[in-house]
Amino acid sequence: MSGILETDCLTLTRFVLAQQQKFPGATGELTQLLNSIQTAVKAISSAVRKAGLAQLYGMAGNTNVQGEDQKKLDVLANELFINMLKSSFTTCALVSEENDQIIIVEPSKRGKYIVCFDPLDGSSNIDCLVSIGSIFSIYKKNDASEPSEKDALRAGNEIVAAGYALYGSATMMVLATGKGRGVNGFMLDPAVGEFLLTDQNIKIPEVGKIYSINEGYTYLWDKAVTEYVRRKKDPSIGKPYGLRYVGSMVADVHRTLKYGGSFIYPANKESPSGKLRLLYECNPMAFIVQEAGGLATTGKQDILDIVPTKIHQRSPIILGSKRDVQELVDLYQDPKFRD
Ligand code: F6P
Repeated sequence: MSGILETDCLTLTRFVLAQQQKFPGATGELTQLLNSIQTAVKAISSAVRKAGLAQLYGMAGNTNVQGEDQKKLDVLANELFINMLKSSFTTCALVSEENDQIIIVEPSKRGKYIVCFDPLDGSSNIDCLVSIGSIFSIYKKNDASEPSEKDALRAGNEIVAAGYALYGSATMMVLATGKGRGVNGFMLDPAVGEFLLTDQNIKIPEVGKIYSINEGYTYLWDKAVTEYVRRKKDPSIGKPYGLRYVGSMVADVHRTLKYGGSFIYPANKESPSGKLRLLYECNPMAFIVQEAGGLATTGKQDILDIVPTKIHQRSPIILGSKRDVQELVDLYQDPKFRD
């Protein structure tokens, strides 16, 4: 960058509008929906950046100097997502990590999309200023019936668009706007207040040098995961991999997308379905990683093939570079490493 203000920069909004132009039948509803998510993300980013100063972290119910109630960041993020999505007139049902039940949008504000989201993921990292993020996936309602939970219980293969926002050392939005349309990354320029295209057509390396898993649970792993991690650390097999684990899915997945390797939250003896939620953690990330040329699996099945039965259901997940993920899938198929 020369320091000269870019006068023809490709913003996220322009990018999405340009994609819409390629489809003569497009109504602009998806563009409008993505704009509403962008607004929510910008507001969350601003709140995250001043969380300490504004005492936004900690317990909900705190009061600020003006005597107003302070909202916890995750409550604020959830309200922003819900309000922006409802008022975009593009959605009919919303699934949020923060709400037990599906949210049905009132008839006068309805549109044709269903959005599943985690408004602020990695919340255990909020109070220590480690990166956190928002994750979402978008589906189209495929009939004229009254919206209900069944509209959200769809396999990830039906996703229309998915994305995440990372509130890291900068704020970035990564978007996959449909099957075969690739993955693009947009950095928030705080001076302009816009997301600018910085990472065009992201491709995950074929193989990486990093594995990412919470090793504290080693005693609970199945044999395939135990063997995989052993191999990553055995110098007689090859140069050992580095271990990186932030504990915020968005940060761990973003690093995996950029540098390659594997991110694993496996099933374990205490949690046979793992921890991460299918609809708004595993599915959107699996869609993005596959669009970038990687793989995402439970070890036994492609994540995107799972047909959910509950909106908050969990799934084990292994995602990342093709060769790294395939190595663990092969171990799952090896009778020597069956539990
Ligand atoms: O689901 C919330 C989350 O914070 C994810 O962002 C993250 O990947 C995971 O939990 C970390 O879980 P654990 O602390 O068990 O490693």
